[in-house]
Amino acid sequence: LMHAILVAVLAYLLGSIPFGMVLARIMGLGNLRDIGSGNIGATNVLRTGNKFAAFLTLIFDAGKGGVAVLIAHGLFGSAAAQIAGLFAFLGHCFPIWLKFKGGKGVATFLGIVLALSFPTGLAACFSWLAAAIVGRISSAAALVSAALTPIWFYVFGMPSAIGLGIILAALIWWRHSANISRLMNGTEPKIGKK
Ligand code: G3P
Repeated sequence: LMHAILVAVLAYLLGSIPFGMVLARIMGLGNLRDIGSGNIGATNVLRTGNKFAAFLTLIFDAGKGGVAVLIAHGLFGSAAAQIAGLFAFLGHCFPIWLKFKGGKGVATFLGIVLALSFPTGLAACFSWLAAAIVGRISSAAALVSAALTPIWFYVFGMPSAIGLGIILAALIWWRHSANISRLMNGTEPKIGKK
């Protein structure tokens, strides 16, 4: 139990680092809260017009989820890896540094899933990409990808992670409630539009 708590706390703290916010600040792109959706994620960093900053945000936000899972797995095995994934995700969405007002978890989710099961993670990334190419809307692609991921865990032989996949997908849908409202009334912006 002490191991589980240690893993949870460290993964939460790692997940709490808001790389989008940090990168936007150090690259002189302004405060993400005043841009687009106000979100701290790569999609909103892209709305500053700086594609490289958005790419770095995606890599670092995914990376922190993946690293948390891989370290926990290496030290304590697969149950710890799932705990690390869940808490890194919660760290991103509810970071202590931003008064618990964080992001929507999509990049971190992809990093976590890639680290838990590489084929499942690839399927999640390709699901996002396929939906993004068709619809050109980041949030919609995330909702599709998240909803399919529990199925990919099953398909690619990691049924033990289906429960975590469902929890993360539910949290992603919940964090996107404002996006879902905009999608339903047709006001959700396309990728890259301000
Ligand atoms: O990664 C979050 C994305 O799905 C939506 O972001 O800024 O359009 O609300 P945003």
